[in-house]
Amino acid sequence: MYFSAKITETVSWIGINDRKSDSFENYIPLPKGVSYNSYFINDEKTCIIDAVEFGSEGNYFKKIRQNLNGRPLDYVVINHMEPDHGGALSDLITIYPEVTIIGNKKTLTMIKAFNHNFDESRFQEVVEGEILDLGYHKLTFAFMAMVHWPESMATYDITEKILFSNDAFGSFKSLDGGLFDDEVDIASFENEMRRYYSNIVGKYGVQVVNVIKKISTLDIQFICPSHGILWRTDIKKVINFFNNWGQFIPDEPGVVIVYGSMYGNTAKMAEALGTDLATYGVKNIKIFDASKTDSSFIISDIWKYQGLFIGSCSHNNALYPKIEPIIFKLQNYGLKNRYLGIFGNKLWSGGGVRGIQNFADASKGIEVIGTPVEAIGDPTFENYKELEELARLMAEKILNKKIEKLES
Ligand code: FEO
Repeated sequence: MYFSAKITETVSWIGINDRKSDSFENYIPLPKGVSYNSYFINDEKTCIIDAVEFGSEGNYFKKIRQNLNGRPLDYVVINHMEPDHGGALSDLITIYPEVTIIGNKKTLTMIKAFNHNFDESRFQEVVEGEILDLGYHKLTFAFMAMVHWPESMATYDITEKILFSNDAFGSFKSLDGGLFDDEVDIASFENEMRRYYSNIVGKYGVQVVNVIKKISTLDIQFICPSHGILWRTDIKKVINFFNNWGQFIPDEPGVVIVYGSMYGNTAKMAEALGTDLATYGVKNIKIFDASKTDSSFIISDIWKYQGLFIGSCSHNNALYPKIEPIIFKLQNYGLKNRYLGIFGNKLWSGGGVRGIQNFADASKGIEVIGTPVEAIGDPTFENYKELEELARLMAEKILNKKIEKLES
């Protein structure tokens, strides 16, 4: 018996847990794995919703064979062709040559990009709102372009009120037994859900919020995304998470301090800021050495907290090489609704602090706190006093109250 979990009498999860891959999209670490969720609908017509990553298949095809129990596979709905879902499509077509692939106009372009010999006669295009009748189950489709690819769409089972949301409402972290929100400790998924959102979908917050508006009229009993846990009990929770993250609304008060330091001087400034923030009453403070922590974890915490200090030493008249990609991603993703403090270090013409300031100037919705502090080599007593003032100003914003300067 291969493990396929029942969602309803006629709908099963037939996904794969990938605990082996080191990274997602070949750059984001997967210390807790990831699942590729695929679903089987057993009806007069048999149907699979989304496939799995090529090479991760494990028992995937055996599960399909077991669920089919000798019947033909009639449909595969491709909500999104990124290879973590569409990767196994060519094998599915080879094994089940009579299958019809369901997607939208843009899906076909993507399928052909990844499978140059794809037989278009196997493809059935659907338009938004069209109904695919499987017998008992009636499926319809909601396009969600740029969440996070142009062809992305969700499939809604009108009969059993299941939203197959693909990447929307997804998460890193493999499924360790329990599939549903009421079978797992949700808190253990929150950080990996945010890390997934902020790094994969985070650039498309406007589109995410629009999708949430679009589905708000549907009666949804289950949300079945293509990664991570399935939702049936506290559906509002996952919708609220994504709705807030899509609008750059932080989860809780707190401050991220991220720095790049070659010789330890910018690191000293980060440590001082952390101590000063705590002295002024800020409780959630996360300090990251950008050379030690993968940026995906730092980006995730930047989504979590409203306060952000970025510090960089100068490297060849520019940002430190470990800070630059973080700033690039924040700018590319359009980070908003954050308070930013700037600090760093130079020995001659600088470049670190200037690079952060350029990012701040180019970013709408980021409020710079106080005056950037730029030390020359080992920070001076005066630099530490300037940092203390930056911390006080940040604490005022985060705690939303007036805070007096400490006596020297
Ligand atoms: Fe899970 Fe965009 O693929």
